[in-house]
Amino acid sequence: MHISPNSAPETQPDSLIHVRGLWKTYRRGQVQVEALRGVDLDIPPGAFVVLTGPSGSGKTTLLHLLCGIDHPTAGQIRVDGQSLEHASEADLTRFRRDRVGFIFQFYNLIPALNALDNVILPLLAKGLAWKKAAPRGQAMLELVGLQARQRHKPGELSGGEQQRVAIARALVAQPAIVLADEPTGDLDSTTAREVIQLMRQLNQQSGATFLLATHNLEICQVATHHYEMSDGLLIAKSTPR
Ligand SMILES: Nc1ncnc2c1ncn2[C@@H]1O[C@H](COP(=O)(O)OP(=O)(O)O)[C@@H](O)[C@H]1O
Ligand SMILES: [Mg+2]
Repeated sequence: MHISPNSAPETQPDSLIHVRGLWKTYRRGQVQVEALRGVDLDIPPGAFVVLTGPSGSGKTTLLHLLCGIDHPTAGQIRVDGQSLEHASEADLTRFRRDRVGFIFQFYNLIPALNALDNVILPLLAKGLAWKKAAPRGQAMLELVGLQARQRHKPGELSGGEQQRVAIARALVAQPAIVLADEPTGDLDSTTAREVIQLMRQLNQQSGATFLLATHNLEICQVATHHYEMSDGLLIAKSTPR
């Protein structure tokens, strides 16, 4: 059978994330690393997507390309109506600020700011005044169960609490998509379970689409879509829910 280069499935009209033929080659001097080798992906709005796979399989690279932190070597990426592969740096910055929330393994909170001020940073970056932003930050802290800790700095909070603050920060500006890279990688298993449940609950409440790269197979149990990566390719897909 002849397979044409255009044999990838057509766009699903309702996909929030649409990726075709995505390649990423990192070049450092003589050394080339093919981190992504032709990824196709369609994700509907509101999904809770989990990416698993061995270290070095390309998960972080894919997340970075999906939010325009880095540019693909080839291929198409459309997220929430915005084409990323040819977008200007200014468009990408605006896209990240207005449409994307991030959750990191090590929380990435600002140590000198209290929990509330950390949470409202994305709103201040959009130009909202502190007085307008603060009540929205307080409401987010309440949703993650930390309303009583709003004046506490990251150093006064446990790892799980810091990740809850980071989750509140990721969602406060009502992004279309939340990207999380190893969000439970620094947490014990009980705390990890609570953080997973919280993310899934906020995914359902907010309608934001979540995409998580993880080694934690428990997250797969609450996923709507589970992709396994290997060597720069998506090699398996399941839809647990
Ligand atoms: N900035 C970079 N420069 C060169 N190689 C990189 C860079 N970032 C990642 N890589 C390589 O790309 C491959 C995929 O890495 P990554 O996306 O971080 O995988 P994962 O998140 O699944 O562990 C690995 O071989 C890694 O060494
Ligand atoms: Mg990684």
